[in-house]
Amino acid sequence: MGKGHRTMGGEGNRAGRSAAAATGSRVARPVVVAGLAAALLAGAGGASAQSGAPVAPVAADTAPTFSRDVAPILQRSCQHCHQPHGIAPMSLLTYRDARPWARSIRDRVARRLMPPWHLDTTVGIRDYKNDISLTPDEIDTVVRWADAGAPQGDPADLPEPLAFPRADAWEVEAMLGRPPDFVVRSTPYHVVANGQDQWWSPELEFEGFDVPRYIRAAEFKPSYPLGIRVTHHGHAMLRGREPAEGEARPPSVRLVGMGIGKRWDLLPEGVGKLLPPGPATVRFSLHYFPVGEEVTDVAEVGVWLYPEGEVPARVTAGERQFYVDGTHRERLRASDILIPPHGHLVLEDQYVLDRPALIQSFRPHMHMRGTEMSMAALYPDGRRELLSSVNRYDHNWQIAYVYDDDAQPLLPKGTVLMLRAKWDNTAANRINPDPDQWVVFGARGVDEMSHAWIGITYLDDAEYEELAAGRSAAAEAGESQ
Ligand code: HEC
Repeated sequence: MGKGHRTMGGEGNRAGRSAAAATGSRVARPVVVAGLAAALLAGAGGASAQSGAPVAPVAADTAPTFSRDVAPILQRSCQHCHQPHGIAPMSLLTYRDARPWARSIRDRVARRLMPPWHLDTTVGIRDYKNDISLTPDEIDTVVRWADAGAPQGDPADLPEPLAFPRADAWEVEAMLGRPPDFVVRSTPYHVVANGQDQWWSPELEFEGFDVPRYIRAAEFKPSYPLGIRVTHHGHAMLRGREPAEGEARPPSVRLVGMGIGKRWDLLPEGVGKLLPPGPATVRFSLHYFPVGEEVTDVAEVGVWLYPEGEVPARVTAGERQFYVDGTHRERLRASDILIPPHGHLVLEDQYVLDRPALIQSFRPHMHMRGTEMSMAALYPDGRRELLSSVNRYDHNWQIAYVYDDDAQPLLPKGTVLMLRAKWDNTAANRINPDPDQWVVFGARGVDEMSHAWIGITYLDDAEYEELAAGRSAAAEAGESQ
């Protein structure tokens, strides 16, 4: 993988754009463009593809009610977190639960702060497996409901209540229908009640398997309930033990990365990550943030495997780290992060793919001054496509944007993958702890960094040709309908 050219520089304050997108007023419905080809936006980073199509009024004569209109929205986009065992501060399961929060719900929803989904939904790829964002219509419904005094409506209109797994249950178990094949557990760690960030990297023994196995999924589970609150993020890396004389050390395997709002990696059926045979050490890297009470955390990583002897059709590298800040090994990491008080910074970096690749997911990582990160592809034929733009990045959340299978970027060899990060160190940044400070690289939340975790599967030429032919056939079938 070759490293490309980088640019750096301030940028005009474009906060106006995000502010406009965050108003609660009626927003024209964005054109939903199907497929990758249609999402081509040659370098138009901020272009918003909105049509003037009117929003169909939702029962214009009557205000929306909780039972009929709001409860289904809460079920799909809120209750997973807002339930008694969820990570959110209050439950939104019933009318009684939600009613006292109506004003706050209106505010958070109108400003697109809730649900946490920080992607610019008007540009780039539109289809994500884990998309919980609200459509402009749904936002409008919630706002009008709250403005009408949050009426309950007829309880007979309520949808069937949903059942949620306990927060201390494995989430992947509910999806795959079976417990993990093995669990690696940390020794206990004490997080102080008050203070600065704490880091902990326990090394844990794993006896391993005699034969190569393939990983389908892995989940990182801090202890419940307090561990979940103090854990900002965690990674688990598996490394083969010291090899015998003359033997090569097996490659490290990244089992899973978690952050608030993201606990697991589940690969599509038929895609796996190689787990080399033999004993290994699993290293957890945990970043804690004190929450005002002392917490003892024991973190666990559960791993789900393909059955012994089964080799999945495609073997993936999983989530890989692509730096945007300076990573040239000959100098200190990220000496290019230098953000003046009340200033902005934009950094770019690019990676030339020396093999074809399929991208499953995009997860930007910055800290408190980070506000935007985008990923674009410059194809060998010169076309440029904005894939995904997280334009309301919020350090409190680490969200992986997981593409629908048909929407996964399929990139030929020679594609330049372009990443762009933007920081806002002004007072306009809601979570800026202190706009008077210079900001440099560092591991604390008040320092900065920028990289993307990209779920990527490298392909050989034949695999690429086959997938590309499948996509063209699907596109043609779509056009002739
Ligand atoms: C992925 C988990 C998650 C989802 C999904 C989610 N929330 Fe939240 N919500 C949280 C967490 C955690 C907090 C507390 C931290 C914060 O305020 O950002 C929160 C805070 C809030 C608050 C502020 C509460 C206060 O103290 O004032 C409101 C209101 C809210 N959420 C409403 C919603 C609504 C409405 C939805 C769905 C449209 C939703 N949330 C979806 C996790 C979630």
